[in-house]
Amino acid sequence: MRSEAGSDADGGSILDLFPRGSSVDSEGELVVGGLRLTELAETYGTPAYVVDETALRSQVAEFRTAMSSRWPNSLVCFASKAFPCTAGYAVMADEGIGVDVAGGGELTMALRAGVDPSRIVVHGNAKTTEELALAVQAKVGLIVIDNFDDIDRLESLVHSEQPVLVRVVPGVRPDTHEAIATGQHGSKFGLDGPDVDRAISRLRNSDRLRLDGVHMHIGSQIMATEPFTEAVRALAEFGEFDVYDLGGGLGARYTRADHPPSVRAWVDTLVDAAEQYLPARARLLVEPGRRLVAESGLTLYRVVSVKRGTPSFVAVDGGMGDNLEVSLYDQPFEATIANRLPTRDSPVFDLVGRHCESGDRLIQGVALSDPVVGDIIAVPVTGAYCFTMSNNYNGARRPPVVFCGDGRHRPVVRRETYEDLLRRDI
Ligand SMILES: Cc1ncc(COP(=O)(O)O)c(C=O)c1O
Repeated sequence: MRSEAGSDADGGSILDLFPRGSSVDSEGELVVGGLRLTELAETYGTPAYVVDETALRSQVAEFRTAMSSRWPNSLVCFASKAFPCTAGYAVMADEGIGVDVAGGGELTMALRAGVDPSRIVVHGNAKTTEELALAVQAKVGLIVIDNFDDIDRLESLVHSEQPVLVRVVPGVRPDTHEAIATGQHGSKFGLDGPDVDRAISRLRNSDRLRLDGVHMHIGSQIMATEPFTEAVRALAEFGEFDVYDLGGGLGARYTRADHPPSVRAWVDTLVDAAEQYLPARARLLVEPGRRLVAESGLTLYRVVSVKRGTPSFVAVDGGMGDNLEVSLYDQPFEATIANRLPTRDSPVFDLVGRHCESGDRLIQGVALSDPVVGDIIAVPVTGAYCFTMSNNYNGARRPPVVFCGDGRHRPVVRRETYEDLLRRDI
């Protein structure tokens, strides 16, 4: 049953930011994947990343169905930098989609999880010879050429034929944080202007590298569809190919004030543009990352200290060690106490982390219902890029990942130990 607790002036509830099917039970406990979050916190400790596997799988299915129904000759590839967790790769393989990897580490995890190599796309603006050798050896489906050094290295590594795409700069700057805008002229990713033609003609003359098409990715957390239309139109100008990889970038709903396009609207935009500008027989690839995983994940923290004043602070046992989205991109989040959703009258706090930086502020101004030491705080929509960039700042032990669904839970990554922190010392 959905609760009205935590409703804002627009009538939206913070519950709407938790994975589909989440609810508040008769005792005011937030329930995700059929489990009370306070009980998960008790079992696994805090901080902890929780992924609702049912919600994750249904999000994958939404992308897959939207694409295949509009453009059957297509493949959705999960941009795995958003959640490079072996169990996550295994879900993608099981759901029948492909995976994009940036570098040898993500490739290793994808292969370990059982992703079909022919469905792996390898990226990177600085792929080392070692990483390219791993990719060639694994017989990955596509390697995306970012620069002429990629071509030189691959020419010396490949003995039979390796399919490749060329990453181009479409010259599109979507409205997003500058750190995650990648499609504009001057971007460090891909080739621009006459370099594209030079790379294409070199590849067309190669007897080892087979040029299948072109790739673009204009950025991340994009909340409008227009830049994607513009980018597909720009991509078409690079010529006719068998494959066009349109990248990812669709924004997620982090707060109740966010209204990103639906998955269907994003796919419709791309396919409408493809119908207008690209060859009808072409194969289309898309690489959603953030939107595929963000909304099925959340982070649990425990309140360590409450300091009342102006402003009032609630300090938790995690922070920028497990969520760098805030300090890197000013990404806004929301939060609630896991067994007391805020009411209209709840006072506002700054939710801060435990790390030694003033920038370690998870949320500036969040309504919390009577927080006290020991309360469990749940921050929704942390499924993308948080696990990815978790770190050991201040000797933090990186949190576990717990998959849940249908009333069951299982750890898929354990919490680091203090011993782990010493393990690499020589
Ligand atoms: C090449 C490429 N494809 C796809 C993505 C995924 O973007 P998003 O997570 O915004 O969907 C990225 C993210 O940086 C990327 O670099």
